[in-house]
Amino acid sequence: MRKKIVAGNWKMHKNATQTTELLNELIAQIPAETTAQVIVAPTFVNLSSAVENLKFSNIAVAAQNVHQAESGAFTGEISADMLTSIGVNTVILGHSERRAIFNESDALIANKVDTALKHEMTVIFCFGEELKDRQSKNHFNIVENQLKDGLFHIEAKDWSNVVLAYEPVWAIGTGETASPEQAQDMHEFIRETVRKAFGSDIAEDVTILYGGSVKPDNAKEIFSKPDVDGGLIGGAALNAKDFVAIVTAI
Ligand code: PGA
Repeated sequence: MRKKIVAGNWKMHKNATQTTELLNELIAQIPAETTAQVIVAPTFVNLSSAVENLKFSNIAVAAQNVHQAESGAFTGEISADMLTSIGVNTVILGHSERRAIFNESDALIANKVDTALKHEMTVIFCFGEELKDRQSKNHFNIVENQLKDGLFHIEAKDWSNVVLAYEPVWAIGTGETASPEQAQDMHEFIRETVRKAFGSDIAEDVTILYGGSVKPDNAKEIFSKPDVDGGLIGGAALNAKDFVAIVTAI
């Protein structure tokens, strides 16, 4: 079933002490009546302590990446088995920073998706166009290709473990947000693209998050759009007051 989700991507921020502090603030401040699923993605080294801290809360923990191989000589990498063995069952894949800075291709992301799904992890699959694509009116094509090349090889049964996160690159960390109408137009297109490939049931059920400079003052309007099921939050997830305001906006 389609869920409301607010996920915080902490990127390479917060040391061990700061992680515990922020989590304790979230535990104390997120209203008990919140129906949205709340997820936080601290950095790898703090995942174990986050799982421990959040044991009695409704907040789930996600990793920001996973390696595609089961194990092996891959210095510095983390496997899906390592994540699930410490209770982390969700992973963000295909984030635009991984694509741009770490050269992750659609094909590599597709491999990572397979590995994560094989381990019964939930995948938050990120994609979105760059500014030049939107300016050249190529943004729908780009988004469709990213979905097809990175994700659409999965089987129908796997969709229950997939969350989509549309994040226009020009809106990430820039303070520039897609207007609620731009977000809705793209989310509707994404749902339609899923519908054409996998049918109405899957398209209606899949959760599609918007990401890119979501803040307390724009969250409510963006989340009010019919095809926007929540948000993937970067900068504003690093501060309890802002993140809680975004969670309550949904
Ligand atoms: P931002 O980041 O909210 O800081 O724009 C979003 C993201 O990278 O997921």
